[in-house]
Amino acid sequence: MARKIAFINYKGGVGKTSCLVNIGAVLAQQGKRVLLVDLDAQSNSSIWLMRVDRWTELHTKGKGSLFSIFVPGESTLGDIRVRDVVTERDGRALVPGLDLIPTGFNLIDLEQEYAPPDKEPPYLRFWKQLKEIEADYDYILFDCPPNVLRASQCGLFCANEVIVPANPDALSLIGFTLITGKLLQFNERSVTYRATGMGPQALINGVLFNSVKTATDIEVPKMRMQFRVNQFRNQKKISSRARIFHSMIRDAIVVRRAVTLGLPVLSMENEGVIEDYRSVASELEEMNSQPAPSPLHSFHQQTATAHE
Ligand SMILES: Nc1ncnc2c1ncn2[C@@H]1O[C@H](COP(=O)(O)OP(=O)(O)OP(=O)(O)O)[C@@H](O)[C@H]1O
Ligand SMILES: [Mg+2]
Repeated sequence: MARKIAFINYKGGVGKTSCLVNIGAVLAQQGKRVLLVDLDAQSNSSIWLMRVDRWTELHTKGKGSLFSIFVPGESTLGDIRVRDVVTERDGRALVPGLDLIPTGFNLIDLEQEYAPPDKEPPYLRFWKQLKEIEADYDYILFDCPPNVLRASQCGLFCANEVIVPANPDALSLIGFTLITGKLLQFNERSVTYRATGMGPQALINGVLFNSVKTATDIEVPKMRMQFRVNQFRNQKKISSRARIFHSMIRDAIVVRRAVTLGLPVLSMENEGVIEDYRSVASELEEMNSQPAPSPLHSFHQQTATAHE
């Protein structure tokens, strides 16, 4: 079964898209079948990986992007997915196994103008369509905007895990706190559909520090985040397995350059930050194989880390 992971924080610009694209590319390079789903009307991951020329064509036609699956009879997720999305200029696949559900700016219409024809929330249509293709993947990663509106809800309803990328600063901590509350509210609101077996009801299970400057001491923001994670875990607001990733992504100019070149970082020259993405990908794999901690174990662990 595919692991379905939403990348979200209520704070914008923390690196949700960069982490998702680069970690997804590492997983694909290691032989996993990976689907990235762009749920953000800004279309950042789509423009990045399709590059402007291919994305503009899709965007101007209006067909082939995510919004079209919400128009009855137009397209399905299976129709619009772009296989092996990262290519050389001549079209040769550079990261085989990395697919994308692309979006365009029109996804914003889902939030206001769109009236669901069947009166069902859009995430149900999305969930049904994802079911048709999810067996093709080991990982499905949702690139969410910094909110829990309709597009985000599509990812959150389908996800069985949630990762919160964060910068080591106070605003990211606020973003983490807000998203925890909003996710719980959404889980509660969508419970009627889950009762009929739809959607796995995800909780936050990881916080990932991104853009960490090498010479900067981040112990204080890290400790504050750890404290909040422990608190929410005790209150059962996040998963009992939730933790801060041991690996962190360093701040590296090449991450920005990768966007301009339309490539994930691993397709560029051998940069140190690639190792960071690899370490996170390994941790992700390990997280899957670890049994859930017993309540006693997690209590001791939390008390210990709270006093670190
Ligand atoms: N590790 C990093 N080192 C340097 N720059 C980074 C790093 N990670 C992300 N960035 C840059 O920070 C900016 C924001 O990153 P990104 O778009 O991934 O954030 P986001 O959380 O997805 O933003 P949004 O909320 O707008 O969707 C981008 O310019 C990106 O290139
Ligand atoms: Mg983004």
